[in-house]
Amino acid sequence: MSQQTILVTGGAGHVGSHLVELLVADPNNHVISLDNYFNGSEENHIPGAEYLRGHTKDIETLVPETPDMVYHLGEYARITPSREEPALVYDMNITGTFAVVEYCREHKVKKLVYAASSTRFAVEGNGRHQNPYSFTKSVNVDLINDYGKWYDLPYAICYFYNGFGPRERGDSKYATVVARYEHQYLHGQPLTVVKPGTQKRAFTYVKDLARGIMLTGEKGWGDGYALGAEQSHSVLEIAEAFGGQIEFIEGYPGREESANDTSKAREELGWQTTVDIMDYIQAFVKEHPRN
Ligand SMILES: NC(=O)c1ccc[n+]([C@@H]2O[C@H](COP(=O)([O-])OP(=O)(O)OC[C@H]3O[C@@H](n4cnc5c(N)ncnc54)[C@H](O)[C@@H]3O)[C@@H](O)[C@H]2O)c1
Repeated sequence: MSQQTILVTGGAGHVGSHLVELLVADPNNHVISLDNYFNGSEENHIPGAEYLRGHTKDIETLVPETPDMVYHLGEYARITPSREEPALVYDMNITGTFAVVEYCREHKVKKLVYAASSTRFAVEGNGRHQNPYSFTKSVNVDLINDYGKWYDLPYAICYFYNGFGPRERGDSKYATVVARYEHQYLHGQPLTVVKPGTQKRAFTYVKDLARGIMLTGEKGWGDGYALGAEQSHSVLEIAEAFGGQIEFIEGYPGREESANDTSKAREELGWQTTVDIMDYIQAFVKEHPRN
């Protein structure tokens, strides 16, 4: 089998690094990551992959070779802080993604695979109006679907629900919920729950997300591959699972829970989850007992 070149944008990030890890395991793949290290880290580099540094808006000059496939994950990826920096979100997600989509059209890439956000399905399909992040993610789904119609761009779109698991960042304003709780737990701090705490999420294991997007690349066509855990949990339930003190804080509780119909991914891709969030937290607490 001849080698194929696969470009992963955001390959130094949380989900992207797990995707790169899966892809480099196949010796037929030459894997290139394009990341601007806004939220990614060299600590997430996987031996065997090639790492390019830069913004997706410069993809044309940064990636001169034509990849067979592009997995596009390299975007501003956090809901709450996106409300404070809409210009940055627009630049990274709208300007950057337009360049990626154009690049795929002009280079006749065999498939563009997009990591969309399940927030699109919240509020009866109006989740895009809840914050700048969700808005840009939803616009990009529209753009890619339209490029499919206008230019026969080959593409597949999958939707991530809240990822958790190794390489998650818990120490900055871009921290994800589970990683923040791990960080607070390890530092003996109370676990902060944004009021009311009843907001629910389908927390999904990061390696399952990575496998899901890879399967979407291998077998999927078109829109609608939702990759979410079957069971949702409230943020308060997650904090309580760690044990210890909980502090309720004011803040943006985020969207309503997004609808979670994963039947297309399960039936067409054979995708399923392998790690439950509650088992994961239990194992973490066992590994790090509090004195
Ligand atoms: N993690 C989730 O729960 C979740 C849910 C829904 C959708 N997604 C989507 O999945 C993708 C990956 O999310 P993640 O959680 O791994 O986030 P992440 O922030 O860990 O990874 C994104 C990576 O892309 C890089 N990046 C951002 N904008 C870029 C740009 N314009 N050019 C080049 N690199 C850029 C960042 O430095 C980072 O390494 C994102 O597109 C995100 O919107 C994630």
